[in-house]
This record gives sequence, C-alpha cells and structure tokens, in this order.
Amino acid sequence: MKDISIAIDGPASSGKSTVAKILAKDYGYIYIDTGAMYRAVTYLALAKKISVETEELLIQAIEKQPISFQASENGQQVFVGDENVTEAIRQNDVTNLVSTVAAKSLVRTALVKLQQEFGKNGGVVMDGRDIGTVVLPKAEVKIFLVASVEERAERRYKENIAKKIPTDFEILKEEIARRDYLDSTREISPLVQAEDAVLLDTTGLNIEEVVGEIKKIIIEKTR
Ligand code: CDP
Ligand code: CDP
Repeated sequence: MKDISIAIDGPASSGKSTVAKILAKDYGYIYIDTGAMYRAVTYLALAKKISVETEELLIQAIEKQPISFQASENGQQVFVGDENVTEAIRQNDVTNLVSTVAAKSLVRTALVKLQQEFGKNGGVVMDGRDIGTVVLPKAEVKIFLVASVEERAERRYKENIAKKIPTDFEILKEEIARRDYLDSTREISPLVQAEDAVLLDTTGLNIEEVVGEIKKIIIEKTR
C-alpha cells in the first residue's frame, strides 16, 4: 500500500488513540496524537501560571519549549522542551482546562501548522477533533469514531484507575459530556464529522473489532 494519511476524529474516549497506535504499528506509519499537543500547551499554561486569556504569552512559551514526541519501550513519550510530560498531561487539572485552551485561535493556528508539518509526507495516522476537516483535509482515509457517553466514561474510568488517576465515575461522565459540548460548539474548527469521513459507532465493540472495521475501510478506500 502506498503511504497514505489516515485521519481519526471523534469525541473524548471513543478509542481514537488506541486504534491509531495499532494502525500506525501495523502499517509502519508514524502516529501523531494531536490531543496530547493541546494538553501539552495546557500543561505549560498551568506550570508557568500563564492565563489562557493571554494567548500571545502561551504561544511564546511553546516557541521557547517546543512540543515533541519520542518513541520508547513504554510507548510514545511527549516532551515540552526537555521535560517529559507524558503522565502530567493526563492529570485532571489539564483535562479540565484543555478544551478552553483548545478554543483559542492563536493556539490552534500554531498547533495546526506543526501537525501539518508532521503529516506532510503521508505515512501517518493522526487523531484528534479536526484532522479530517482542517489539519489533513486531503487524507485518503477519514474515520469518525463515536460511542455512547456511558461506554466512553466506563472505558476512561478503567484506564484512570489503572493509571492511578483519582476518579469518580459520575464526575468523569459529566466532564466527558462537558468537553464534548465545548469541543463541538466552539467557533474555530469544532468537532464535526468531515463530509467524506466514515462514521463508526464503536459502542459494544472491542479494540480488535474496531481495528478490523477500520482496516476494511482502508482496503475499500485505497483499492
Ligand atoms: O483522549 P481524550 O479524548 O480525553 O482527549 P484528547 O484527544 O487528549 O484531547 C484533549 C482535548 O484537546 C480535546 O477535548 C479538545 O479540546 C482538544 N483537541 C482539539 O481541540 N483538537 C484536536 N485536534 C485534538 C484535541
Ligand atoms: O483517544 P480517545 O480519547 O478517543 O480514546 P482512547 O484513549 O484510545 O481510549 C479510551 C480507553 O478506552 C482506553 O483505555 C482504551 O483501551 C479503551 N477502549 C476500549 O475499551 N474499547 C474500544 N473499542 C476502544 C477503546
């Protein structure tokens, strides 16, 4: 198969990064977690006590300490400058603020530019909210992953417990619904299905089944 671009979008905890990582490994592609990039900017805002309302200062901070990814035995690691923030960006303080940061136009412009740079040669699986619509509008394969909010909250709950992130199920479910609402209703690049994306409802499907369905779509689209 020639090196193509695969865009995976969808709401929180729909399984995007899990399946994107598997697809990237199976096809020998690079994987770009764009959510981690918005989380990294949010982490910087909190660490440096930069108000999310002062976008210029946030952008200057990212320019001084660029976001990068490194492969490792423990999976992909996320760096801000020299600091490994892989675990820190999954904590509740970052999760609760990230959608506010991601609604800011200067932040989006800076990160979209970087993401397009990462994806410019194809051979990439990129997941996020606006990959099929804005970042890689010419991606050969676009998937829009969804699942019921109940199931998404259950999935994330199990994950948080395994990672020892303190979590109350009902609060988590509300937080996921709130983030979906903010992401879908913001003015710039909201979470919407691209016209040419394939909708895949993963409620009741395990990871293998989802990967299998996506591989069928890839074969169909690239034949
Ligand atoms: O993994 P989870 O679904 O919790 O979220 P994520 O993919 O890590 O993304 C965190 C947040 O970043 C989302 O809720 C969005 O506010 C924002 N985001 C975005 O606006 N655009 C993207 N391409 C990716 C993430
Ligand atoms: O990237 P996104 O926020 O869309 O979701 P994720 O981080 O890939 O998946 C959230 C959790 O759901 C992970 O712990 C996955 O292992 C799990 N998952 C699942 O149980 N069944 C699926 N079909 C997809 C994901």
